Amino acid sequence: MTGRELLDEQAGFYRAVAAEYDDHALPLPGGDEVSAALDAFRPTGSVLELACGPGTWTGQLLRHATEVTAVDASAEMIDIASARVGGDQRVRFVLADLFDWRPDRRYDVVFFGFWLSHVPPERLASFWSLVADCLRPGGRVFFVDDGHRTVEELVEGADSVVVQRRLKDGTAYRVVKVPYQPADLEQRLARLGWRVEVRATSGPFYWGAGAREAF
Ligand SMILES: C[S@@+](CC[C@H](N)C(=O)[O-])C[C@H]1O[C@@H](n2cnc3c(N)ncnc32)[C@H](O)[C@@H]1O
Repeated sequence: MTGRELLDEQAGFYRAVAAEYDDHALPLPGGDEVSAALDAFRPTGSVLELACGPGTWTGQLLRHATEVTAVDASAEMIDIASARVGGDQRVRFVLADLFDWRPDRRYDVVFFGFWLSHVPPERLASFWSLVADCLRPGGRVFFVDDGHRTVEELVEGADSVVVQRRLKDGTAYRVVKVPYQPADLEQRLARLGWRVEVRATSGPFYWGAGAREAF
């Protein structure tokens, strides 16, 4: 499977799982901690939310932001997110593939929830370059993620970043799931020119907050 085919299958999984997405949420500790960390970060001003999904975080972002642009490759996810924010005029949804998309403006904050672990490692640098291009000078970034992978998902072995996810009806898809360790991720981001603090929670979740190194 080529890299592009895998990314298309991953996007296809999320289109198909949209209606049942919340039923797949991890019933594990730490979720409240990332939510509290996001409030403490205060994503004020104009916020870009990448891979917004069904709007899991959009409402929380709107508690702080003056406006949110939310991008996702799944129209099904955007429909749910749009219904969730209930026509709030401060939100603009954009249907786009993040591996092709370029911003048409810059933002005070870029946020992504449970997206970074789905970016193939060979695209990590170009993804963070995109994040840089989306930020105003002095702009900030916040992300939430987890490294949770079940034994059943590891169909290509524990060393592979490719795992198998299933819909409730059993249909299988391959997706990328990189099991970052917070300290290691923090170092990788430092090598890419970012000063980001990556903090573990009491569960499988972690969050990162920071900005580009000043040049
Ligand atoms: C794990 S979900 C995260 C959704 C939401 N941010 C959350 O925290 O619940 C990943 C999201 O990435 C989106 N996605 C997958 N591939 C994408 C791509 N190539 N470009 C943009 N979004 C993509 C999916 O549609 C899905 O909404």
